[in-house]
Amino acid sequence: MTGAVNKIPGSDLVARSLRSVWHPCTQMQHHETLPLIPVSHGRGAWLYDTDGQRYLDAISSWWVNMFGHANPRINSALRSQLDMLEHAMLAGFTHEPVVQLSEQLAARTNHVLGHCFYASDGASAVEIALKMSFHSWRNNGLSDKREFVCLKGSYHGETIGALAVTDVPIFRDAYDAMLQHAHVVMSPDARAARDGETAADVARRAAAALETLLQERSKHIAALIVEPLVQCATGMAMYDPVYLQEVRALCDKYQVHLIADEIAVGCGRTGTFFACEQAAVWPDFLCLSKGISGGYLPLSLVMTRDEIYQSFYHGDVTRGFLHSHSYTGNPLACRAALATLAIFEEDDVINANRLRAARLTEALAPLAAHPQVSNFRQRGMIWAFDAVIDNAEAASTFSRRFFTTALEHELLLRPIGSTVYLMPPYILNNEEIDGLAARTQTVFEKVMRG
Ligand SMILES: Cc1ncc(COP(=O)(O)O)c(C=O)c1O
Repeated sequence: MTGAVNKIPGSDLVARSLRSVWHPCTQMQHHETLPLIPVSHGRGAWLYDTDGQRYLDAISSWWVNMFGHANPRINSALRSQLDMLEHAMLAGFTHEPVVQLSEQLAARTNHVLGHCFYASDGASAVEIALKMSFHSWRNNGLSDKREFVCLKGSYHGETIGALAVTDVPIFRDAYDAMLQHAHVVMSPDARAARDGETAADVARRAAAALETLLQERSKHIAALIVEPLVQCATGMAMYDPVYLQEVRALCDKYQVHLIADEIAVGCGRTGTFFACEQAAVWPDFLCLSKGISGGYLPLSLVMTRDEIYQSFYHGDVTRGFLHSHSYTGNPLACRAALATLAIFEEDDVINANRLRAARLTEALAPLAAHPQVSNFRQRGMIWAFDAVIDNAEAASTFSRRFFTTALEHELLLRPIGSTVYLMPPYILNNEEIDGLAARTQTVFEKVMRG
């Protein structure tokens, strides 16, 4: 079952890639020892390299893949779309896929968020939400509202505006001098519970900290941006839905927009289609990307309320939202999204995932009980735990060692620091679920032994 990963770095494709491709989120020098996998194709939950070695994509290729690689239903939808229209600009033109997608998404919010603005990557959706919030207040005569609030440990993307509301030092620190200052408030991360406190108590304490800031600064604050229920990139910090209810009420009370960044947690990842559903609240802006195209094509969007839309609707062109990207609303990406939404309906995915999640949680029970595992946690189709490592040197290399060892056991897993997480596609069968749990434990034990 274990693979000969060592021979891969010698392959021609890897050598050419290391010469010509600057890989994302990577200290390139690490590839002197860290494997780079030359992927040849994907089928279902598996990626195959050029030597035929396979890897279970247990993190859905950076959380985008919903229904497996080379999914026949999405492939077929894309083939038909290719013969009709590959792309047309969305200013002055429209097309069936973008209209249908906007209608279907709005219906999923009971038409509370009835206007969809499109972009390509997650970070561009965040930029749009920030700009729209500021501009909407400005159009309403409140141009002093230009500051933003984010949570401790927040992650909203790597572009300059998104990075300004990101609080993950490894991504942010090098660029700090370039960024506009944002207010960083306490995270409702349930791991911060004091003795006797529940997750809901932590959430209320975090909301109270936000209120202190709003009492003082709300005249200058345009929006609060949150990752609903799970702050993924900081290490899968999970929190109680009551936090979303509290901040919704505070945003209303202090006239501040609420931006829900559902780029990672949307599309069923937390157990409901939108994470906000679990708190029974809707934000003023909802950002979606990653899984919405099934993991096929870059697509992001910002959904917003009619009041916001109306604040831009005017005879004066400069009051309009004059933001654009060349590939805005790309028909192929929208068609992939429609095929993805169809699978949610046809396969009753949200309910089917409950069974999958229960089985994987049970299969992971022995690992959760391991003495070097702390804070084992799960929400929907996300599992995470923190490795207890007392040696700083071992902690700093844990993620890379885990990744490399996992590959030897046919798993694609990339811990965040010393947090191991699983975010598999929604198609694992029982055998794959049990194998994933058993191998994750084997890899963990091997890495912890050193
Ligand atoms: C919550 C959240 N927001 C924004 C982004 C940025 O998305 P992208 O990488 O597509 O720009 C991510 C990416 O991981 C994310 O997790």
